[in-house]
Amino acid sequence: MFEKLTGHEDPHPIYEQVRALGPLVREGADWVTTSHTLSNKILRDRRFGVQYTDGSYPGVAGVLPRSFLEMDPPEHTRLRRLAMPAFSPKKIDEYRARVEKVAESLLDADEFDLMTDFASPQPIAVISDLLGIPDSDTAEFADYGALVARSFDTGVTPEMAHANDQVLALFERLIAERRTRPGDDVISSLVAAEAEQKLTAQEMVATLVLLLVAGFETTVNLIGNGAQALLGHPAQWVLFKANPELAPDVVEETLRWAPPVQLTGRIAHEQVGEVGRDEMVHIIIGAANRDPDVYPEAHRFDVLRVQKPEHLAFSSGIHYCLGATLARMEGEVALRALARRMPDLRQTGPVTFRDSVAIRGLRSFPVSRS
Ligand code: HEM
Repeated sequence: MFEKLTGHEDPHPIYEQVRALGPLVREGADWVTTSHTLSNKILRDRRFGVQYTDGSYPGVAGVLPRSFLEMDPPEHTRLRRLAMPAFSPKKIDEYRARVEKVAESLLDADEFDLMTDFASPQPIAVISDLLGIPDSDTAEFADYGALVARSFDTGVTPEMAHANDQVLALFERLIAERRTRPGDDVISSLVAAEAEQKLTAQEMVATLVLLLVAGFETTVNLIGNGAQALLGHPAQWVLFKANPELAPDVVEETLRWAPPVQLTGRIAHEQVGEVGRDEMVHIIIGAANRDPDVYPEAHRFDVLRVQKPEHLAFSSGIHYCLGATLARMEGEVALRALARRMPDLRQTGPVTFRDSVAIRGLRSFPVSRS
């Protein structure tokens, strides 16, 4: 099925073809599931993990350093814990003030591209705060970060390998600075943990790259997909504008209906039912989120729907997105600001899609405020 997905068109007709074959379907040497219940079960089942039994993993070899997203316990547990302070409720409150300011400052233009002029700068500002990247370095990080993130999908081009080297060099510089002058940011707390030998220098860099990429490539598409869903469903847009307190519901329904991360996967550590040891199960988050067994009228975008069970946009189990609270807050602030400041927002030309199967989002979305 994967070769049929282009990353441009609506993937749901293909997902539905797979769903019609049953909850667990053979795909070459692998398996695919579109079932919400089964996906959730596999993501929570400790007999499955993200690495093979020989310790190798299916990541893009030779580019990004291996992060805890690609590790099983006990390494995963140790490293995830060290990154957690960046996401404390107190920190999220601090980021909120920044996000609100950025959202407001971006909404002054009459004609603009909702992706490049509004959705992208938001997460970049937040990640820069979170990592303690000085304003003077933010633009460079943003450019390279976007390129590095793209390597997940398209494989590695020389341009990306160069961007990867640049990101690593920038992090090395910031780490060295924090060693002499610690601040109140993730790099400083990881530097302190490194001094206590809780993680290696390489693990520290890998964690920083993960935070950069995970925060960049996803939230931007939550904001873009949410805005597109609202403009494409005028009654829901009117409802939201009249009831801005619905922002959290709009965000949850966007995450369910058009999740930025469409796919993940798990590898069986032992024979589990039909799935053999070291066989991969591809979990189609986008399809699980529209499983008619758990969501009535699953293809309908309805911000008032009861979100039970929770969608799988942030995955489930031990790899549940560490940035979920932050992403939800960013999405709420951005979409609320849009509804309040741009009630007459309209699309002025065709959208273009990202060139990606795993990440679902728009590349461009031309709009006008009136
Ligand atoms: C709408 C925005 C976001 C979406 C849809 C999203 C989605 C996901 C998903 C699906 C996973 C798990 C993948 C798997 O189980 O295989 C994940 C993990 C993760 N996300 Fe997010 N994410 C978002 C925003 C963020 C942000 C803003 C950050 C941080 C700044 C972040 C940091 C992480 C980290 C560190 C992990 C790894 C967790 C682990 O392996 O234990 N995410 N995210």
